[in-house]
Amino acid sequence: KAKKKQLLINISREAARFFYKNLNKNPQAMKYLYNRGLSRDIIRRFGLGYSLNSWEGLKNFMAAKGIDPEYLYSAGLLVKRNNNEGYYDRFRNRIMFPIIDLKGNVIAFGGRVMDDSKPKYLNSPDTPIYNKGHNIYALNLVKQIKDLKNIIVVEGYMDAISLHQYGINNAVASLGTAFTEQQAKLLKRYADEIIIAYDSDVAGQTATLRGLAILEKEGCNVKVIRLPKGKDPDEYIRKEGLDAFKNLVENSMSLVEYKIHNLKQNINIQEIEGRVKFVKQLATILNTIDSPAEVDAYIKKYSREMQINEAAIYDELNRIKKRHT
Ligand code: UTP
Ligand code: MN
Ligand code: MN
Ligand code: MN
Ligand code: MN
Repeated sequence: KAKKKQLLINISREAARFFYKNLNKNPQAMKYLYNRGLSRDIIRRFGLGYSLNSWEGLKNFMAAKGIDPEYLYSAGLLVKRNNNEGYYDRFRNRIMFPIIDLKGNVIAFGGRVMDDSKPKYLNSPDTPIYNKGHNIYALNLVKQIKDLKNIIVVEGYMDAISLHQYGINNAVASLGTAFTEQQAKLLKRYADEIIIAYDSDVAGQTATLRGLAILEKEGCNVKVIRLPKGKDPDEYIRKEGLDAFKNLVENSMSLVEYKIHNLKQNINIQEIEGRVKFVKQLATILNTIDSPAEVDAYIKKYSREMQINEAAIYDELNRIKKRHT
């Protein structure tokens, strides 16, 4: 079994090399990446590639090396034909992103179309060497940093790569929005402070709250970056520049601040109903804080900001506490 895994790892590395070579031979694919702001150096660092616009490009390349399609299938690189007779390439005419584990092994791929067709990204299925929820994209690079203070977690391949392109070398991607406990444990090994910078859409916000909860449970100190509407880190840094992004990192919010920030956006503070709701929910959020000094600081801050009497917030908080004892 260990032998088969090693074989699948070797095959995946060979495939990554093939994709990388193809990229350098394909001006359209290179142009796509240059247009997205990536340099030759960063393309090499992330081992990006290109899968041929052909049903059996990879299969035939590997066959010439004497590699059985059955193994390529196990590695997630081929798909079985409908009639069960033979296989074809899973990734065709896509920009290829190798997923590399902490030992430096290529274990899976993501592939992006170069136009608006769907699906935008195709990913390797789970295989004997790859379990989606157990890996973090680019952590193999980030773990090499000496004196790593914190890690920035983004959603997508391009977000992570784009930040590295700008010199933000501590960015990783959770790949999609389903952050897992295993991923939190991996991050915790390398840094205690984790900064979440997910897309600003609803899916990203929901995932941020979920990720926050999981990371806090693992004992991480979590902060959140709120990006402006409709932006992801890649779009933001390319449009606003490195200093603007650094500024967002400097001003990243704590879990409590983030929850209150979301709350503020979902109520109308001009209406009585909205104010009542705000105070109630604010108290619920503050009730999760252990330190009385911290609670006091937040109450001062938001009573000033929202023009609400401090005593009203304290009353609500005490009411909740009474209910639970
Ligand atoms: P996004 O839709 O935000 O894509 O999905 P993106 O990362 O900004 O990609 P670009 O900038 O358009 O190239 C975030 C992540 O969700 C996963 C990918 O990991 C992607 O990076 N995803 C998204 C998929 O796996 N499949 C999809 O079809 C879309
Ligand atoms: Mn630690
Ligand atoms: Mn999104
Ligand atoms: Mn994007
Ligand atoms: Mn995005």
